Amino acid sequence: MNIQQNEPALQIEYWQPGMECCDEIWESAYRRFETPEQECHKFLKRLQQLGVDQWDKNLRVVELFCGQGTGLHALLELGFHSVEGVDLSPHLLKQYQGAAQLYVGDCRELKFEDHSRDVLIVQGGLHHLPILPADLEQTLSEMQRVLRPGGCVVIVEPWLTPFLRFVHAVCKIQVLRKLWPKLDALATMIEQEITTYEQWLSQPEDILALLNSYFQSEQQKVAFGKLMYVGQKT
Ligand SMILES: C[S@@+](CC[C@H](N)C(=O)[O-])C[C@H]1O[C@@H](n2cnc3c(N)ncnc32)[C@H](O)[C@@H]1O
Repeated sequence: MNIQQNEPALQIEYWQPGMECCDEIWESAYRRFETPEQECHKFLKRLQQLGVDQWDKNLRVVELFCGQGTGLHALLELGFHSVEGVDLSPHLLKQYQGAAQLYVGDCRELKFEDHSRDVLIVQGGLHHLPILPADLEQTLSEMQRVLRPGGCVVIVEPWLTPFLRFVHAVCKIQVLRKLWPKLDALATMIEQEITTYEQWLSQPEDILALLNSYFQSEQQKVAFGKLMYVGQKT
């Protein structure tokens, strides 16, 4: 996996000042959880599984809640030419070095024009929204506004499967956390985001109903503690 580190990012556009540091402990655990190469490999596999690698490379793609931008590297590696990322944390966005355009902004209030993008991707961002269902509704409504008719959303979020319950149980074993730094990083991230994380995991039916009220479901897979959803704006 070759992540381009020396290509400067285009200037970061600030839609708002952002949160200078959302949560130092969470961000440090997030960076410890996987190397950018491991994360990029995971994203590439995921996008291939969903068939995104087969899509027209001229589509205008935005990753929302893009964090340090590893998903943007994966999209560029798949050959997409127009790739943008939005996140609330300038601190994380500044870690990114690559060709995508970045915006500091709140995904509940996107500044893109109506019908101006073809694909919107979210990987692990919606479960950070503080108020459900209101914030989710606001975000999905913004996504629907920004997408052109026929455009697609790709959403990957944690989902309470038996596998995820097992992971939660393992996270509680302190000795394992000490022996396995990746487990400790995951457990730390969960601890730091516990309120929104638990709120998200406790409402699967309502969340799916909301997704399907904004988009026409094309793929809906639940496996290994994740929901993988592809929907189309009709
Ligand atoms: C779990 S990270 C996911 C980052 C990236 N998608 C990944 O998988 O590596 C969640 C990200 O959502 C961002 N975030 C949280 N609330 C947000 C909001 N309302 N608008 C934009 N970004 C937000 C955080 O700053 C964080 O970078």
